Amino acid sequence: MRKPPEINSKYFYDDRGSMLFERICELPEYYPTRTERSLLERIAGRVTDSIRAEELVELGPGGSTKNRLLLDKMAEAGRLRRYVPLDTNETVLRRMAEHLADRYSGLHVHGLVGDFTQILECVPRGNRRLITFLGGTIGNSRPREAVSFLSRIAALMGPDDGFLLGMDLIKDTARLEAAYNDSAGVTAAFNQNILHVMNRRVGADFEPDHFRHRAFYNSKDHWIEMRLVSTRIQTVRLPAIRLELSFRTGDEILTEISAKYDRDRAASMLARAGLRLIEWYADPENLFALSLARR
Ligand code: SAH
Ligand code: AVI
Repeated sequence: MRKPPEINSKYFYDDRGSMLFERICELPEYYPTRTERSLLERIAGRVTDSIRAEELVELGPGGSTKNRLLLDKMAEAGRLRRYVPLDTNETVLRRMAEHLADRYSGLHVHGLVGDFTQILECVPRGNRRLITFLGGTIGNSRPREAVSFLSRIAALMGPDDGFLLGMDLIKDTARLEAAYNDSAGVTAAFNQNILHVMNRRVGADFEPDHFRHRAFYNSKDHWIEMRLVSTRIQTVRLPAIRLELSFRTGDEILTEISAKYDRDRAASMLARAGLRLIEWYADPENLFALSLARR
């Protein structure tokens, strides 16, 4: 079968896409957010104390409030100095920066707007930093790209820094597929929204309603694939990148992969990136895990 064209999943997160993602996080089928949050509630103090963290660097925070669990512990220990969030969405970043600056007096917020694969090295130097990459967003890169991104994170880290990585775990297919095919149709709307983003960003003329959502677990590669399936014969023009795409009924666009891990795969990915797995925290059902690593 022909390889489908791909749209980079970072384009999901315009203001509407970020709002839809926040709704996904509340869905009964989408267990990652609430599972990671309850893990963080359990381990936040242990993690921030073990690093004696003074600074939190967060990759792709979106509008999530999970960071407060870590920031609260750092503040309680009297060590919190700086918060450095990095995200493509400036609106959510500003909202969060303002909120956190109000919540933690004296906190210095240094927000970075952009693609973390492009501007990672703009993260300011610091000591005793806890770098977090939560929500399972690492899964939105293919494992090989994930290793090269993690190597760049490792290169930023000093011997006193820690890296906390959230990963969705391999589990039964029905549970995984339900999380990406919710009954309220929010994930479908989130998926179609990427076509509106392409229309705005590259002047494309996608008709989002002429594509339907499809998500399935690819058990060979251990990842969910989210696709958009053309419901008719159509041609789409993307003038800014001088591209024309012709679709037959049933032709697909790959919009996201969401890779799932287990402890061995996570440890080997981290090791290949030059990071040592220090602690592995998973919930009792083994749905989601947080790993703490050092250089
Ligand atoms: N960490 C949050 C949000 C996850 S959604 C949580 O756990 O709930 C993914 C977030 O990463 C979004 O806010 C999106 O804007 C951001 N993101 C995705 N790809 C990105 C990229 N390449 N560079 C910077 N931010 C990115
Ligand atoms: C942000 N990321 C980890 C989510 C995921 O599960 O891969 C994005 C998402 N896509 C569909 N639902 C949620």
